[in-house]
Amino acid sequence: MRIPESKIEEIRNTSSVVDVISEHVQLKKRGKNFVGLCPFHSEKTPSFTVSEEKQIFHCFGCHAGGNVFKFLMEYHKISFVEAVQELAEQLGIAIEVEQTDYAEQQSEQEILYDINIEAAKYFLNNLLNDDEGEHARKYLQDRNIKTQTLRSFGLGYALKGWENYINYVKSKNLNLDKCLKLGLIGKTSEGKYYDKFPGRLIFPIFSPNGRVVAFAGRILDPRDTAAKYINSPESIIYIKGRILYGLSFAKDEIRRLDKAIIVEGYMDLISLYQSGIKNVVAASGTALTDDQVQLLSRYTKNVVLLFDADSAGIKASMRSIEILLKRDIDVKVVSLPKDEDPDSFVNKYGKEEFEELVKKAQNFLEFETNHYQSLGKFDDPITAAEAIRELVKPIAMVQDELKRNFLIKNVAKKFNLREKLLETELDKQIKQERRFTKSGKRISEKRKLVDTNELITDNMVEISPVQYNLEKEILKLLFEADKNTAELIFTYVHAEDIVLNVNRELFQLIKEEYENDNTRGAFTTSGLISGLKDEKQEAYVRELTFDNYAVSGDWEDRFPSVTSEITMMKFAKDSVLKFVVERIDKNIQSNRREIELTENEEKLIELMKANNELEIEKKNIKLELSAR
Ligand code: GTP
Ligand code: MN
Repeated sequence: MRIPESKIEEIRNTSSVVDVISEHVQLKKRGKNFVGLCPFHSEKTPSFTVSEEKQIFHCFGCHAGGNVFKFLMEYHKISFVEAVQELAEQLGIAIEVEQTDYAEQQSEQEILYDINIEAAKYFLNNLLNDDEGEHARKYLQDRNIKTQTLRSFGLGYALKGWENYINYVKSKNLNLDKCLKLGLIGKTSEGKYYDKFPGRLIFPIFSPNGRVVAFAGRILDPRDTAAKYINSPESIIYIKGRILYGLSFAKDEIRRLDKAIIVEGYMDLISLYQSGIKNVVAASGTALTDDQVQLLSRYTKNVVLLFDADSAGIKASMRSIEILLKRDIDVKVVSLPKDEDPDSFVNKYGKEEFEELVKKAQNFLEFETNHYQSLGKFDDPITAAEAIRELVKPIAMVQDELKRNFLIKNVAKKFNLREKLLETELDKQIKQERRFTKSGKRISEKRKLVDTNELITDNMVEISPVQYNLEKEILKLLFEADKNTAELIFTYVHAEDIVLNVNRELFQLIKEEYENDNTRGAFTTSGLISGLKDEKQEAYVRELTFDNYAVSGDWEDRFPSVTSEITMMKFAKDSVLKFVVERIDKNIQSNRREIELTENEEKLIELMKANNELEIEKKNIKLELSAR
C-alpha cells in the first residue's frame, strides 16, 4: 500500500506529538519542552524530551528519537505504513490509496511483504495439493496436526530440488534480488540462484499484525543430517529479537486471560493452539530478548515459562527470568516431566492435564531453588553460598522494592538464613547492576547507540569553538524561523562560509526546502527529519534543536516561550552579524599573517587591499543590518 506524500504530511501536521506520546509515557512540562522517562531504555531520571513546537522527540540517554510516526513505529514495533494508518484512524483522516504506478512506487517494505505472502501461498499449495507434498502431509498427520490447523498457521512445504521456488518466482515476475534479501533463495559464488528450503516443512513467521516477515523450515526426515530448522535471515521487515512466534494468533487470548505462556518451539505452540490453549507464544529456541519482552508486556504482565526440561531449556529459562523481571513481569515456571515437551505432553495427556500442569507453575524463585537443590548445591557450604548468590541475582532485577523484600524473606526462610546476609548480597548486586546499566552496556545491547560525535568530528579540527557555536546558532535559528527571518539568514550566510560539513549539508537542505517552497511559510523540524536519510544526521538535528546552549549562553532568556516575529528577527540579526563578523575577521587575520610573512611587494599590496575591502564589507553589513 502506498500512501501519498501529501497525506502523510497532512497526518503529521494534524497530529500532536505530545498528545500521542502522552498516551504511553508520562510527560512533564519543562520549559518549552516536555520530559519523561524514556520508554526505549531503562532510566531513573528523565532524559526523554518531546517538543510540541518542533513535533519531535529525542532521548539524550539512548539517542532514540524522531517524529510522531517514528515514535509509534518503535513503541508498537510496527512498520511506517502501519504507524501512518494508526494515526490517521485516530485523527479521523481518510487515506485514499494512490493507484498510479503502483508497483513502481510501492515501498521496499511492501514489496518484501508481498513476496513473502506469495511464497507462503506457494508453499501452502505444495503442502495441500502437490504429489510430493504427500510425505509432508503424512508427517503432520503423524504429529496429529489437523488440516484446519495447518491452514490457520499457513504451514507449507518446499519441494525438493534447487529451482522449484525460483521457477515460481520467475513465472510470477517477482524480483529475484528481493527474494535473495529475504533469504528465500541463495546465490552461489558463481552468481547462480538456488532455493533455500528444499524438502522442508515451512512455518511462516508473522509480525504482531499478522504479516509474513520470515520463514522457518524443518527437515522431515530424521536421518537428515542438515540443521533441524533453518530460518530466514534478518531483513528490513524481520528483526529476530523483536518477533515472537505466534503472537498475532495469541494476542487477543493473552489479553483476555491476562497471561502468556512462553514455549520454545513452533510445534509446541501449534499443538497447544490446536488443543484450545491459545495464549501461547514461542521464543523459537533461544532466551527472550528485551525487545520481545517489551512487546509482550503490551498484552500482559504475567508470564509462564514452559521450556523443555533439558539443560538447554533450564538455561534459557534462567536467562529469560532475569529479562522478564527487569520489565516488572510476574514470572512463573512450569517444569515438564522428563523427555516431554509441551507438544508431546498435550498430545499425550490432553488439554485438562496441561492446564493442571500450568496451575502448578512455581514462582521463579522456587524453580531456581529446586534446580540448585537437584544439582546438590546445598549439600556443601561452598557451593551453597554460590547458589544463594545466584538466587539473589534475579531478585536484584525486580524493580519493586517491596516485592524484593518479600522475595528475600522467602529465600531466608527456606534456607534458614539470616535475612541481613541476603540483604547485603542483594544491595551489592543492585549496585553492580546499576553500574552495568550506567556504563551503557545493557542499553547498547538492545539499541545501537547513534554516535553523533562521529558525525560532527569528521572535520572538527578546521573550526574554532566560537565558529562552531555560531554555526549551531544559525541552524537553530533556521529551525525556529519564520519566512522573513530565514530570508535574512540566507542573504548574509552562505553555505560555503559554513565550515563543518554536517552543518553545511543541513543548511543547504533547509535552504532548498525554502527555495522549493516546501515549507508553506513555516519550516518544520519534523518535516526535515523525515527527509534525512542518515540516522546519525537525524540524531544530530534533534540534539541541535533541543540543545539550549548557545554562544551567548542566555538562549533561554533570549528565546522566551513566545518568540514573536519581531524578537525572532532581532535575535537573528544579532547572530547573523556575529557570524559574518567572525568570518570576515578570520579572513582579515589570515591575511595579516600572510602580510607578515610575504616578501613579494605586489602580493603585499593585494593583501592589504583585500583587508581594506573586508573592513568595508564588515562596516556595510553592520549598517545594513541595523537599518533593516
Ligand atoms: P519438533 O522436533 O518438530 O517438535 O520441534 P521442536 O520445536 O520441539 O524442536 P526443539 O525442541 O529441538 O527446538 C525448539 C526450537 O528451537 C525450535 O522450534 C526452533 O525454533 C529452534 N531450533 C531447534 N533446532 C534448531 C536448529 O537446528 N536451527 C535453528 N535455527 N533453530 C532451531
Ligand atoms: Mn518438539
